[in-house]
Amino acid sequence: MYPLIRNRRLRTSASIRRLVRETVITPDDFLVPLFVVEGKGVKEEIPSMPNYYRMSLDHLETEVLELWKMGFCAVLLFVKVPDELKDNKGTEALNPDGLMQRAIKTIKNSCPEMLVMTDVALDPFSSYGHDGIVAEGQILNDETAEVLAEMSVSHAQAGADFVAPSDMMDGRILTIREALEDEGFQHTGIMSYSAKYASGFYGPFRDALDSAPVDIANVPKDKKSYQMDFANRFEAIRETQMDVDEGADIVMVKPGLPYLDIVREIKNEVDVPVAVYQVSGEYAMLKAAAEKGWLDHDSVMMEQLISIKRAGANIIASYFAKDFIRVMG
Ligand code: PBG
Repeated sequence: MYPLIRNRRLRTSASIRRLVRETVITPDDFLVPLFVVEGKGVKEEIPSMPNYYRMSLDHLETEVLELWKMGFCAVLLFVKVPDELKDNKGTEALNPDGLMQRAIKTIKNSCPEMLVMTDVALDPFSSYGHDGIVAEGQILNDETAEVLAEMSVSHAQAGADFVAPSDMMDGRILTIREALEDEGFQHTGIMSYSAKYASGFYGPFRDALDSAPVDIANVPKDKKSYQMDFANRFEAIRETQMDVDEGADIVMVKPGLPYLDIVREIKNEVDVPVAVYQVSGEYAMLKAAAEKGWLDHDSVMMEQLISIKRAGANIIASYFAKDFIRVMG
């Protein structure tokens, strides 16, 4: 065929490249993670996540209004809990006047159209830094699912639009769905972290929330008994299919970039929207390399975001949301 067919014709100018571009990304694609702390006037940078902050409710309000003005429509909330409020069962997570519940109300009061998704897992509230209740060196499954269901109802009562269980207990989507239905929250959605891997890329996030598993006897040192082995692929599909069957409205793959093969397979397998979490370690890696002058921050960031979308993501949870606006204008 050569030289009749020359693929480079479609690459000759910026205009033709624009015309044939298959994947575009807009603020609508982003879910913006936000870290909330107690206090007033607090906006502290997370050392391992340059230019990303933990903020108190007053700053949260300003931030969300700014994000809305920039064109974003959804946020994902995480709270940092003081040590003295942590216990094995995550009791503080159920406090109707807890930080998460107040954060939801703050956003819904000032920017009602902003979609609010909340993290549902015990780790920020756990004295052991685990996503579930610890007993005799194990993470209890069904007991944890019950607490997660109560937590979800509490978030729904405060006004959350979606709850996002990130814990990887078996059966928790069904338990949560049933609890929401029982309490009259038919319209509260569930975004399930369905294929969540036991990943080294979560390090900076655990710094941000002070939520790493503690190193004491009879407490598992890692999350490998509930988060997935990164060597596995079929298991990701089974996990995701089960979450859809149990009532998940949106499913998620996490982390992002090293798992784009999984994203594509899941996209081909299920017919609900697929979210991808480009996690804290992915963010930190690029920030660090750019700081050293080893990578061009903006072009690599765009390449990563587009790659995630191209792989099949309908939604990208990303700390780069505001950088994206800076680049795209
Ligand atoms: C915990 C949770 C984690 C993240 C989101 N929810 C960390 C973990 O599983 O230890 C990680 C997000 C990130 O690294 O950006 N339920």
